[in-house]
Amino acid sequence: MSISVSDCPSTLIPELRAFFSRVYGPSHVLSDGETFLRWQFGRCSSDVCTVKVVWLNNRIAGCLGYVPVDVALSGGIIRGAWVINWIVDQDVRRLGLGPMLMRDVTREFELTLNLGPNAEARDVLRRMRWTTVGELPRYVIALDAEAATLLMEEPQRWPLTAAVPVSTTAVRVRRVGRFSASATELWNRFQNRRVAGARRSCEFLNWRYADHPSFEYRLFEAYYGDELGGIAVYRLERVQSREITIGRILELVSIDECGQGLLHAVIEDSRPEAVLLDFFSAFPAHRVLLRDAGFAAGDHPAAASIPIVFQPIDRQRNGIWFLAELSRAGTPDVDWYVTKGDADQDRPTRSQTIASEVCDSITSA
Ligand SMILES: CC(C)(COP(=O)(O)OP(=O)(O)OC[C@H]1O[C@@H](n2cnc3c(N)ncnc32)[C@H](O)[C@@H]1OP(=O)(O)O)[C@@H](O)C(=O)NCCC(=O)NCCS
Repeated sequence: MSISVSDCPSTLIPELRAFFSRVYGPSHVLSDGETFLRWQFGRCSSDVCTVKVVWLNNRIAGCLGYVPVDVALSGGIIRGAWVINWIVDQDVRRLGLGPMLMRDVTREFELTLNLGPNAEARDVLRRMRWTTVGELPRYVIALDAEAATLLMEEPQRWPLTAAVPVSTTAVRVRRVGRFSASATELWNRFQNRRVAGARRSCEFLNWRYADHPSFEYRLFEAYYGDELGGIAVYRLERVQSREITIGRILELVSIDECGQGLLHAVIEDSRPEAVLLDFFSAFPAHRVLLRDAGFAAGDHPAAASIPIVFQPIDRQRNGIWFLAELSRAGTPDVDWYVTKGDADQDRPTRSQTIASEVCDSITSA
């Protein structure tokens, strides 16, 4: 029996797609077509994909994708990666191939991060000495309380929260097609010694959001005077088989009053179409910012009754876990800026969504 692990060369994308088709099904976005696969895994090089594959007797038997990122940590920047798409062929599980793939990625990076692993993966990772940072807190605001209640299994009363009046008159918010270099400067100012997470440079943000092959994200900049003081990203999502659209915030990087100005702009921009907005974010300062903007905490009975996935609604899925492999980075006391925009948590699952979304700009995950 021959076993080896390597990055998948681009020339072997057909074999990789055949593997994805076997394990995820033929209509999965990574199986049916190359557009999404090349966007997700071809960012660093045209010759090789950021996917580790394990070869067992000359066939792909498992894979682990990764998203290389600069990670802000303790005031500096280190080389890190989000791991995604960790899967081994059913008939060769429990042979240690999964951990073999994981070790191959973790030894290449100073810090490896994982968002949204299931219970089985969390168990293996804990045994591989990963740190469980916790579940991402979620925030939800109902823009149309009656319609948002239709998404609950049993109706719950929304909290009577009103946004705290904040003067944002000095803040000017505009929607943009792409972020400019000033987004990187904003992150550099935002990233003090406590902030940790994938660095939101303009290159990263534009790859992740402006150049996404299927989803149409809405990008916002907030200016305080002439200076960029914040950015936000959200998208609309039509709930499968329902005449209901929701909005999902993916980014909120802000300094001073710009956070409130951005939230106000996103709420007003989404209000004509979305019945609610949600935001998964580990960043502690978001708790007060979102509460003051009228969002309910995710553990409020009304917010907790809103499913977290909508393609289709799956009430078994109820949280997004965040784990980190910190053996080389230490165990820093930091404020993680980690959101649902990280890793591949906000992704299409079926390739059909790519074609239809271009037409109607309503997206699905
Ligand atoms: C999760 C998955 C990738 C794991 O791959 P796998 O090759 O089946 O993993 P294994 O069960 O062989 O590996 C775990 C074993 O490795 C062992 N192991 C090997 N190296 C190890 C190490 N360095 N540290 C700790 N444990 C190690 C563990 O003891 C464990 O054995 P046990 O469960 O029998 O006690 C695989 O089960 C899978 O494809 N699942 C479906 C897809 C999925 O859920 N992916 C995760 C998405 S979040």
